Amino acid sequence: MRWRVVTLVWLVLTVSGNPVIAADNSVVFVEKCGACHKRGTAVAPINPADKAGLVWVKYFQRKRHPVELKSRITEDEMVIILDYLDEHAADSEVPVAAAIPK
Ligand code: HEC
Repeated sequence: MRWRVVTLVWLVLTVSGNPVIAADNSVVFVEKCGACHKRGTAVAPINPADKAGLVWVKYFQRKRHPVELKSRITEDEMVIILDYLDEHAADSEVPVAAAIPK
């Protein structure tokens, strides 16, 4: 009897774990990056599937972004966002092209 409960809890955690984390990461991305990158504004929408994972990482490592982001996005948030971009990049198994609607 006990094992059934343990197995059930394990199953629920395993099955629900990843999508929950992924959903949270997309919220950070849409909230922080989407604050400027919005449809209908001068700053075009961006999405993970716009670039390959490594290209995203290098883009920010090499500080290519034209606008300073440090005052708006903390380092922790940036780690979450980069993780999300990499996880859903063009060359990932689950590319996301419309987290911010085009
Ligand atoms: C303070 C406003 C602002 C925020 C916040 C912001 N950006 Fe930008 N971003 C801009 C502006 C302005 C440009 C230059 C204009 C353009 O390319 O549309 C730009 C350009 C870019 C470009 C180059 C354009 C292209 O299509 O390749 C990328 C990529 C980009 N941003 C990604 C991001 C990501 C990822 C985030 C979140 C971590 C982010 N930006 C947050 C304002 C912002």
